[in-house]
Amino acid sequence: MPRPVALCVVGVGAVGRELLKVLRQRKFPIKQLTVLARSARTLTLDGETIPVQAVSEEAFAGQAIVLFAGTEGEKGAAVTYAPAAIRAGAICIDNGADFRMDPKVPLVVPEINPEAIGRHQGLIANPNCSTIQMVMALHPLRQKGKIRRVTVATYQAASGAGAQAVEELKTQTQALLEGKTPPPPRVMPQPLGFNVVPQIGSFGEQGYTTEEWKLVRETRKILSDDTLQIVPTVVRVPVLNGHSEAVTVEMDRPITPAQAAALWKKMPGLEVAEGNDRYPMPTGADGRDPVYIGRVRQAPDDPKTLTFWVVADNLRKGAALNAVQIAEALLKS
Ligand SMILES: NC(=O)c1ccc[n+]([C@@H]2O[C@H](COP(=O)([O-])OP(=O)(O)OC[C@H]3O[C@@H](n4cnc5c(N)ncnc54)[C@H](OP(=O)(O)O)[C@@H]3O)[C@@H](O)[C@H]2O)c1
Repeated sequence: MPRPVALCVVGVGAVGRELLKVLRQRKFPIKQLTVLARSARTLTLDGETIPVQAVSEEAFAGQAIVLFAGTEGEKGAAVTYAPAAIRAGAICIDNGADFRMDPKVPLVVPEINPEAIGRHQGLIANPNCSTIQMVMALHPLRQKGKIRRVTVATYQAASGAGAQAVEELKTQTQALLEGKTPPPPRVMPQPLGFNVVPQIGSFGEQGYTTEEWKLVRETRKILSDDTLQIVPTVVRVPVLNGHSEAVTVEMDRPITPAQAAALWKKMPGLEVAEGNDRYPMPTGADGRDPVYIGRVRQAPDDPKTLTFWVVADNLRKGAALNAVQIAEALLKS
């Protein structure tokens, strides 16, 4: 059992709260827990009252590991405070996108590239939720041959946009059920109640959104394959929690569903649902750790092309669990 360490969580939104749950469920050895957010308060989580302090540079003194789950961007938690935490001697693990593509920052899914953790210079990045569940499914297939192209359509839950997005979806749905006009969206770009929205993030190069570019660039970095072609379409759906993805993989040689299932079953963290009608869904993945795969089939006229359905709890393997697994690996090393 590794020696307990001083650990700090920054942010108590959707991911921050899940981090606190996962740390407790996995009995992470904590000598002293510090929880920070923009303002001080107490947080009640599963019946336990947790004090939350207002973030400041001084709060990072003596911390061994800092898990960032704050808002992204210039005024976000990691950009503002990670340099101070690193100067204070902590190793930071960031759930946000700010440092993921920095060549000096490892981007890690512990089941895939744990060796990258050892190259950190004080900061390790957790990949985006939609990326993690997709690379978990792609990685084992590379034992069979080279992946040439991935075409993916995502069905992403409101919780992926944070705790306020979940409340926004509930409010809109309630208003629509009562026959009222829902309030205009404040967190998401369009009303999500009884709707699907093919926009996550803002529009960027070649008409792809920032979330779509995350799938492209992060996947290439984690799998160390700059030649991998990825064609993403990301969609927000009115699901509270749990992302789904329809993934089509073109390989350089034929692959059958049985061969893929055999490879997936050997990979820790994956569960394969066999049989056409035993497909995974977000309601079943909610609160659970694995990445679930189902509906596996070959393209009707191309034995090198495999299509399947991937579901995971975006707050767990898509964020908090993956970050805690990285922290566990740090403790072991
Ligand atoms: N949701 C997901 O599925 C998911 C998956 C992968 C990655 N991520 C990433 O994880 C991060 C957190 O996401 P979330 O969904 O948990 O967001 P969220 O629900 O909006 O919560 C954000 C939290 O960060 C705190 N915060 C914001 N700016 C801060 C600052 N400058 N200093 C300290 N704390 C600050 C907020 O504090 P207050 O409560 O005081 O306002 C709040 O508690 C984001 O970078 C997001 O992109 C999210």
